[in-house]
Parts: sequence; C-alpha cells; structure tokens
Amino acid sequence: MNIEFKLFTLAASILLAPVGAVLADSTLKDALKNDFLIGAALNPSQFTESNAVEANFVKQQFDSISPENVLKWEIVHPEPGRFDFSLADRYVEFGEANHMFIIGHTLVWHEQTPDWVFKNADGSPVDHDTLLNCLSNHIFTVVGRYKGRIKGWDVVNEAVNEDGTLRQSPWYKILGPDFLVKAYQFAHAADPQAELYYNDYSTENEPKRRGAIALIRRLQAAGVHVTAVGIQEHVRLDWPPTQLISDAITAFSQLGVKVSITELDVDVLPEAFRGNGADVSINVAQRAELNPYPNGLPDSVQAALARRYADLFAVYIKHRAEMERVTLWGVEDGDSWLNNWPVRGRTNYPLLFDREGQPKPAYTAVLQTARQMNMASHQSSLEAASLSHP
Ligand code: XIL
Repeated sequence: MNIEFKLFTLAASILLAPVGAVLADSTLKDALKNDFLIGAALNPSQFTESNAVEANFVKQQFDSISPENVLKWEIVHPEPGRFDFSLADRYVEFGEANHMFIIGHTLVWHEQTPDWVFKNADGSPVDHDTLLNCLSNHIFTVVGRYKGRIKGWDVVNEAVNEDGTLRQSPWYKILGPDFLVKAYQFAHAADPQAELYYNDYSTENEPKRRGAIALIRRLQAAGVHVTAVGIQEHVRLDWPPTQLISDAITAFSQLGVKVSITELDVDVLPEAFRGNGADVSINVAQRAELNPYPNGLPDSVQAALARRYADLFAVYIKHRAEMERVTLWGVEDGDSWLNNWPVRGRTNYPLLFDREGQPKPAYTAVLQTARQMNMASHQSSLEAASLSHP
C-alpha cells in the first residue's frame, strides 16, 4: 500500500467515524502511550480532589499535569520573604500519588508577578543587584523545595515579542538580556536533574519563531542546557494552519531540543481584538455579538472543532519522535481561562470535555486519529521489517 493511499484511507475513516461515539475501551493516555505524554493544567478543585469527579477523570485520562496558577510567583511568593506553598504542595502530592509527570509553571514571567519584585516602596525601580538576588532566592527556594519531584520547569515564559525582539519586561529593563541565562543557571543549580524549558505563544509565526530560536541559541552559547521548547498553542479554529505548526516543531527540534505543546486550547468565539491585545474589563453584556453560543455549541461548530483537534493531533503524532508532551490548558470547558480572556464572562468551548464532563466529538476525533496513525505506522514498520528480511 503506498503512502498516499494510506493517508487517504486514514482521512476517510476519520471522516466516516460516528461523531460523538465514545471509544469506551480507551483513554487519551492509552491511545497516545507510544507517542508522547498527554497532560492537563489543573486547578485546586481537581488536585485537592474537592471535585472528586474531575479528579478521577484526570487520573483516568492524563499522565502529566501542569499547575494552572498555583506555582506562579504571586501565589508562592506573595510578599518579600514570605513563601506560601500550601496549594503547590497539594498539587505535587496529587501528581506523585498518581505517578504523573509533574510540570512546574513558571519561574520568570512578566505577568502574575507582584509589583514589589520590581519596585521599591516609593515606586522607583529596584536596582540590578536587588532584582538578581531576588530572582536567585525565588528560584532556589521554589525549585529546591520540589527537587527530584517536579520533573520539568517552564523557567522563562513569554520573553519574545511578535517581531522577534526581546520583550521590554521589567526583567529585561533592570537586568538586561542576561536575566535569561541567569534564570536557567539558577534553576539548574537548584535541581540538576530537572528538565528546563522555554515556553511561549504564537511561535508558529515566522518573526516570533526566529526570535525564540535566537533566544535558545543564546542560552546554548552560554552553556545552558535547555531540554525543550514549549509551544503554548492557544489556537483558533482557523489559525495557525497546521503547516506552520509542523514547521515550528521541525525548526525547534533542529536546535537539538525536544518540543512540547504546553497549553493547548481552541478558541471558537469571534476574535475580540486584533493582535494579542486583551481588555478583560470589557463586559460581554455590552458586546453580545462576541458571545454567540451562551446556551450550547451548534453542531456545525462542534464538528469543525473535532476536525481541528484531529488535524492538530495528526501533526503532533507525525512529529512524535521530536515531541515530549502535549498538555491541554484545562480539563473541561467550564474550567477554561478563555471564558474570561480576552473578554470576561463569555461561554467558550475550547477543550475535549464539556461542562458536564462528557467527552466531546473532539475527544473521539483525537482517539480516532491516534488509533489510525499508530496502526498505520505499525503496519509500515511491519512492511519494512518484511522487506529487510524477505
Ligand atoms: C492563565 C490562567 O489560565 C488563568 O487562570 C490566569 O488568570 C491567567 O493565566 N499563558 C500562560 C498561562 O503561560 O500561565 C496563562 O494561564 C495563559 C497564557
């Protein structure tokens, strides 16, 4: 069977699969076990198991977890000299109890970092050495606490602008580009076994991708070991095209690092702003046209979402040799940050499970894609083996 025919039969069988049919005999982590880890970002109700239904669900479906918020600076280090690990400890305990690959997110970011980190009491910026000491103290304390337990860290998050230049964040303005190298050196010293990642969004776009590649090269030239690049993958139904995603995975892996999809979700609502602007102060009641599906997703959009997820996973599975993990940014639609970003109070449908925790057609599409592609590759390795040993 030639490859075109195989792809044709694969596409046909996915299209013909009964939409909504649940593959009861499988789960995401079973279906993808030969490809990469499959993860979800968790909120406290899931990892403390106060929401027992969702907690069980996470145990059944996922073999990796990310903390949606509880390891961010504003939560673990809210005031100078005061750390609060009460939620982060529960998160790590949940992952360990369920033998999951536990991710830390994130050490250095311009968001969700309190003002005191960057400013003196009078509002003036702190000086270079003060900020560097503060960064070192933060990373050694947080990474050190979970040494050997959190397996990989998003060390720096979102340091590159759309045009590929380095973001003029307070980190950059006060420490210069050296903050990048320093952050990875501190993290490596705090836990030499931990995997260290660079994580960003929209790196499918050519200028930003080039900037991220330059950033990784800068780290590598300084002797820093970066394990993987995280492509966040907050995507829309029609953007970015899968070819750009595939190109980005190839380009990053050519740097000698692994690639992970770290924050996957598919926004199905009308675009509220051009570019990456957000104004969460906009009340959706003032702009009802931005919230077209408050009472449920029309079948046609549900089907488009399923096709989009099938196409995305087809790319990831095709690149399985380069990929470490695919993580969804939430478990069910009601959890998703996209209900409140970039506009507050909308009803979005970006994930694989609905607000009742039921699998959506997109879930079935992912399982079908995994099953078909793994079957096709198993078949071709059998054929290759029989050719080499006639
Ligand atoms: C989001 C969380 O999902 C929200 O709950 C929070 O209010 C804001 O941050 N990129 C990231 C994530 O790296 O940390 C963000 O998570 C989504 C965008």
